[in-house]
Amino acid sequence: MSNESIGLGIDIGGSGVKGALVNLDTGEFVGDRIKIATPKPSTPEAVADVVADIVHQKEWNGPVGICMPSVIKNQTALSAANIDKSWIGVNVHDLFTKRLEGRKVAVLNDADSAGLAEVAYGHENARQGSVIFLTFGTGIGSAFFMNGTLFPNTELGHMLVGKQEAEHQASSAVKENEELGFKKWAKRVDTVLAEYEKLFSPSCFIVGGGISREHEKWVPRLTVETPVYPAELRNRAGIVGAAMAVDGDVTP
Ligand code: BGC
Repeated sequence: MSNESIGLGIDIGGSGVKGALVNLDTGEFVGDRIKIATPKPSTPEAVADVVADIVHQKEWNGPVGICMPSVIKNQTALSAANIDKSWIGVNVHDLFTKRLEGRKVAVLNDADSAGLAEVAYGHENARQGSVIFLTFGTGIGSAFFMNGTLFPNTELGHMLVGKQEAEHQASSAVKENEELGFKKWAKRVDTVLAEYEKLFSPSCFIVGGGISREHEKWVPRLTVETPVYPAELRNRAGIVGAAMAVDGDVTP
């Protein structure tokens, strides 16, 4: 297989570690996506072993891009959401480089990664103006773009909206846990978006994560003034953005 326009992206999440080869010209997967359950406890060493397993299964010798639910500054994890707290303070670049025997790696936040993929291959509105990209899943991830350039490590899911953090009231996990219908949940998302709108006046919101597959059930119910567009890459985005990041060296 030629390495020219192919990259390997790996998306570390609270329940699964997912990886696939990505055609960097099209943003499409090449071959199957591998998903391995996140080890418990999800310590850096245990997760690095799973990452190495995916690289091995894919018989891949090139660079590896990795995204995870952490603030990543200068390649060090400064937070850890839904993964073991022992990630905090770890130089993730060194961890994975060592585990992958010296090959080139790049690590970035999962929402930043998904947003980069959306800018490159997804909705055309993602590329222009001041865009807030959001992922709805276990938490709420965010990525800010100005004309397609990322401002990394925004953590809007943790912003207080009313008395609670945004992701504690409007993530898709909350919808599931509280058995909310789309109508009730959309109202909560609307409240959160209204707060973001007030503070940042973006040109648009792009909403991703698995639940954007069902966007017609909730996006039309939102009343914020700012246009809201469903993401086009959905769950594929994290892996694709990670593969791009190591290729283009866009890590924060
Ligand atoms: C984390 C973010 C992450 C988001 C989505 C939040 O809880 O703080 O870093 O991007 O979840 O996984």
